[in-house]
Amino acid sequence: METSEIRRRFLQYFEDRGHTVVPSAPLPSPDPNLLFNVAGMAQFVPYFVGQQTPPYPRATSVQKCVRTLDIEEVGKTTRHGTFFQMNGNFSFGDYFKEKAIEYAWELVTKPQNEGGYGFDESVLYASVYYDDDEAIALWKRIAGLPDDRIVRLGMKDNFWSMGIPGPCGPCSEILIDRGPEFGADRDWEAGDRYLEFWNLVFMQNIRGEGGGKEGYEILGELPKKNIDTGLGLERVAYLLQGVDNMYEIDEIYPVIERASELSGRKYGVEHVDDVRFRVVADHVRSALMLIGDGVTPGNEQGGYVLRRLLRRAIRSMRLLGYEDPSLVELLPTSLEQMKKSYPELEADFGRISQVAYAEEEAFRRTLTAGTTIFDVAVRDTKASGAHQLEGSKAFQLHDTYGFPIDLTIEMAAEQGLNVDTEGFRSLMKEQRERAKADARAKKAGHADTSGYRELREKGVTEFTGYQELSTDSQVRGLLREGAVAPFAEQGETVEVVLEKTPFYAESGGQIADEGLILGDGLRLKVLDVQRPVKGLIVHKAEILEGVLRPGENVHAAVDHEWRVSACQAHSGTHVVHAALRQVLGPNALQSGSYNKPGYLRLDFAWSSALDPSTRSEIEEVANLAVRKDLPVSAQYMTLPEAREWGALALFGETYDEQVRVVEIGGPWSRELCGGTHVKHSSQVGALTVTGESSVGAGVRRIEAFVGLEALHYLGRERALVRLLSENLKTRPEELPAKVADLAERLRAAEKELERVRAAQVLEAAGELAKNPKDVFGVQYVGHRAPDGVNGGDLRKLALDIRGRMANDKPAVIAVLSVNDGKPGVVIALNDLAREWRLKAGDLVRVAAEKLGGRGGGKDDVAQGGGTDPAGADEALAAVEHTVGHLVTG
Ligand code: ALA
Repeated sequence: METSEIRRRFLQYFEDRGHTVVPSAPLPSPDPNLLFNVAGMAQFVPYFVGQQTPPYPRATSVQKCVRTLDIEEVGKTTRHGTFFQMNGNFSFGDYFKEKAIEYAWELVTKPQNEGGYGFDESVLYASVYYDDDEAIALWKRIAGLPDDRIVRLGMKDNFWSMGIPGPCGPCSEILIDRGPEFGADRDWEAGDRYLEFWNLVFMQNIRGEGGGKEGYEILGELPKKNIDTGLGLERVAYLLQGVDNMYEIDEIYPVIERASELSGRKYGVEHVDDVRFRVVADHVRSALMLIGDGVTPGNEQGGYVLRRLLRRAIRSMRLLGYEDPSLVELLPTSLEQMKKSYPELEADFGRISQVAYAEEEAFRRTLTAGTTIFDVAVRDTKASGAHQLEGSKAFQLHDTYGFPIDLTIEMAAEQGLNVDTEGFRSLMKEQRERAKADARAKKAGHADTSGYRELREKGVTEFTGYQELSTDSQVRGLLREGAVAPFAEQGETVEVVLEKTPFYAESGGQIADEGLILGDGLRLKVLDVQRPVKGLIVHKAEILEGVLRPGENVHAAVDHEWRVSACQAHSGTHVVHAALRQVLGPNALQSGSYNKPGYLRLDFAWSSALDPSTRSEIEEVANLAVRKDLPVSAQYMTLPEAREWGALALFGETYDEQVRVVEIGGPWSRELCGGTHVKHSSQVGALTVTGESSVGAGVRRIEAFVGLEALHYLGRERALVRLLSENLKTRPEELPAKVADLAERLRAAEKELERVRAAQVLEAAGELAKNPKDVFGVQYVGHRAPDGVNGGDLRKLALDIRGRMANDKPAVIAVLSVNDGKPGVVIALNDLAREWRLKAGDLVRVAAEKLGGRGGGKDDVAQGGGTDPAGADEALAAVEHTVGHLVTG
């Protein structure tokens, strides 16, 4: 049975039994303590802990999950995969143990032609938490399992939590006996023979901090008894597809086959190669899914995990002997399989592949750059007589050049060295701890949300800001440093929650509104507005006057000018996005944005710089859309309806049941968006693109000013042009020609200057030739020319002097000049001097030695130089001295 069919049957089965089918949440976790969702229940945590009322009593989903703690284990054992899917059914205070067991057992054992999975009952077992007699009784009654096929296990196996504080509970699992070839009889621990594939969690407790599977405290009971189950989709797939492990199922194996074709190696022959094949197949799929959910490769957090996955996959291909870019071959193969369950991947593949291929290209460059550093490290290590590459070197290679440690180890081994991996690991650990501390500090503002939750329990804050800019309201409560406070006074800055508010809280790239909250003798200036928990709008405000208390009647008023400009900027962002896609094509999809009054920027998937004409075209298309005065409207619908309509959603965003779709000119621009907008596109006003740059592999950023700011920007440019034309005394339209002309004349003048200088230098030749020094019968000219004479002119000068000198006596000419801080010297000899056994080459070496450099050449003319101008005079003296020495010696 295909994986997509197993998935479909699951959802169908539970939908038929009154469960609402809920789409998977995106992979990035909303919980700051986790990078990615690791279980199906993640998106339902607020319902379990009673923080929100669930909109349905039962639900079912197939959740995308990524676990990377054991990334090093992938492929070595057959149980670890980084991306996997968890089928789940959930009850929020509705049914409990009995129904959960009944449903699971029925679906697992129902024959396949009746819509079930058709497992053979005689090989199935159940495990329960050691004291859960109730569950034992239910397994006996419902499934008819005898005592010896029910096993009691402890906390490690049968008590489940997400590994962090939150909901948890005892659980019960369905296990399948795969037969004696997989392990010993009744050996529950080893894991391969008795494989658990469906976990039923009786979610009834809440846990605190603590490590491991057993080292935490149970803080108490949840408000209701709930059910959370997880059926490992990949596990069921390999059991039903009759293959050995998850890498061989229909969704993954084709990538192994493709990798085998490319590398020419076979899967199933050598264990080391098999591990590499599995790493490739697993990581390529995980990367596809992560990029699909908006994660981009980076050096921190989730982005780093993705980078590692991609690099490990690429590296494994190289170890399999395939050196060419490999993702371009493998990613489409993975897509073919995954699109059956996730059709959106195909629509988005242009963007996804661009991100992945750009990362591969970057990594290939890394390998090239890092290899040089690596070679130096190896040379130094060997030179010092050591046999071990220092941990800090391995860390530097890893940190700066992205060299995975296994790459360093392998390359070192080829050089007969090992690597101090312990030192490396301790540096890595330090770095991780720093990163964790940073992440905690960043989130600190909203880390403790209990104060917000207390205020949120009194209801949602109504947002009136789509219709009006000022609203009569009431103070619901206030917080001082995160804790609910009874009052606050003039001079304090606190957080204020109102019953309803026209203030827009920062989200979707649009920054928060500014304005005032006024009451009887009360004046507050709003500095920031956020939504720290769903449904609650919180104003950070400074009390300018009066005392603030809950229950007070107030008038909340957004600054009119501010909001008008904010609307212009946000609508402008949508206009630029639509223009980008019109000009560049649908792959140029927004991956992030930021807008504030007068300014906007938008990051989008694209891997090369936009040339000036493309930029102008985008600007032109955007301004034409503004000029057309297109109507702007917003309406609510369900997410599937919005997708059907072609509305663009942001990756990695979780959307509510009802989403808001903002349109500009009907289908021309349709985006899911909660922001505030103008009513007609012409109200955006002028729009001028000011920059375009790279912000990472495969992502570009475009920036623009809108409305008055755009005019101010153009005004500044105009002032600049005016200043230039005044200074250059020409009309603006003639500026380019004028500047080009000036540059040309400057170049000509420089050339002329050079010629004159050379002529001047040569002019000295006559004078010098007339007054040689007599050094034991040799006519000697030792001349230090002015600074700045280049080698060519120096040579001309030496030859010119020689030409003017008498031929009946030996002559030696040495000229020297310091050019650009570096001394150069030329020595010329006439024929007679050479007959006296003098050699220009030898003399130049003598001079160069004093100049800290080298030189050489023929016997008649030689040239040299050095780095030390302070030795110039000494060099000339040394030449003279040597000449004397040689002719007398
Ligand atoms: N949340 C449970 C698990 O992940 C079902 O195993």
